[in-house]
Amino acid sequence: MNPILEIEGLGKHFQLHDQNKLIPSCANVRLEVHGGQLTALVGPTGAGKSSVLKCVYRTYLPSAGRMIYRDAAGHTTDLALASEHRMLELRQRDIGFVTQFLHCLPRRSAIDVVCEPLVMQGVSRDDAHRRASELLSLLHVPERLWGVPPATFSGGEKQRINLARGLIARPRLLLLDEPTASLDPVTTDRVIELIDSIKAEGVAMLAIFHAPELVRRTANQVVELTRPVAVSELLEPCTP
Ligand SMILES: Nc1ncnc2c1ncn2[C@@H]1O[C@H](COP(=O)(O)OP(=O)(O)O)[C@@H](O)[C@H]1O
Ligand SMILES: [Mg+2]
Repeated sequence: MNPILEIEGLGKHFQLHDQNKLIPSCANVRLEVHGGQLTALVGPTGAGKSSVLKCVYRTYLPSAGRMIYRDAAGHTTDLALASEHRMLELRQRDIGFVTQFLHCLPRRSAIDVVCEPLVMQGVSRDDAHRRASELLSLLHVPERLWGVPPATFSGGEKQRINLARGLIARPRLLLLDEPTASLDPVTTDRVIELIDSIKAEGVAMLAIFHAPELVRRTANQVVELTRPVAVSELLEPCTP
């Protein structure tokens, strides 16, 4: 079967104009993500793992390479070249992203924050609320918090809201950046079970986990990134 996402030669660097510096983030990344499977990105801090996900979601514009996304009809889009309009469309229906951090409007209740992706897809508010309630219970978010804006929640509570929001709609491709980093072991187990059931529905996942044990439990394929070296570092004389 054709992969849902195929990345070849992906590179990203940042140009710091004021300091005349080039910061490499990831280089020559090659990977595939298949429907119903999870590809895990591993490597040391600074190896460019988060940058790869941000390139796929096009928060970052890649500096090199191709990222071929295949939609349900079999049409392909190179995400490196896609228009902003096409990216908005894909983010709404096809590609989901769960990061460690929750960004949301301050005065919306937690349950509305979770419902939003479904409501945007045209699901009725009642149905969306029902599914959000199931997810919030599954992730152990106390019911008394559901009507409260998440701005004042603890880190772990915010992450649960973020996960529920990211997992409520079923995108074709789900990007996960350390989704369980601030969760207790019991909730982490719940999230891993949820990831397994979403996988069983055919969703393709590209994920970064903070613990190798979670990679062993969830990954079908593992891709290792190494920290890219800046040209200036190569040219600098070594100090003894
Ligand atoms: N927006 C940015 N501006 C400048 N440098 C960045 C930016 N994002 C990431 N980097 C740099 O790219 C490298 C890889 O970062 P990142 O993708 O976050 O790695 P990882 O997730 O593997 O820890 C780091 O050196 C980081 O400082
Ligand atoms: Mg990271």
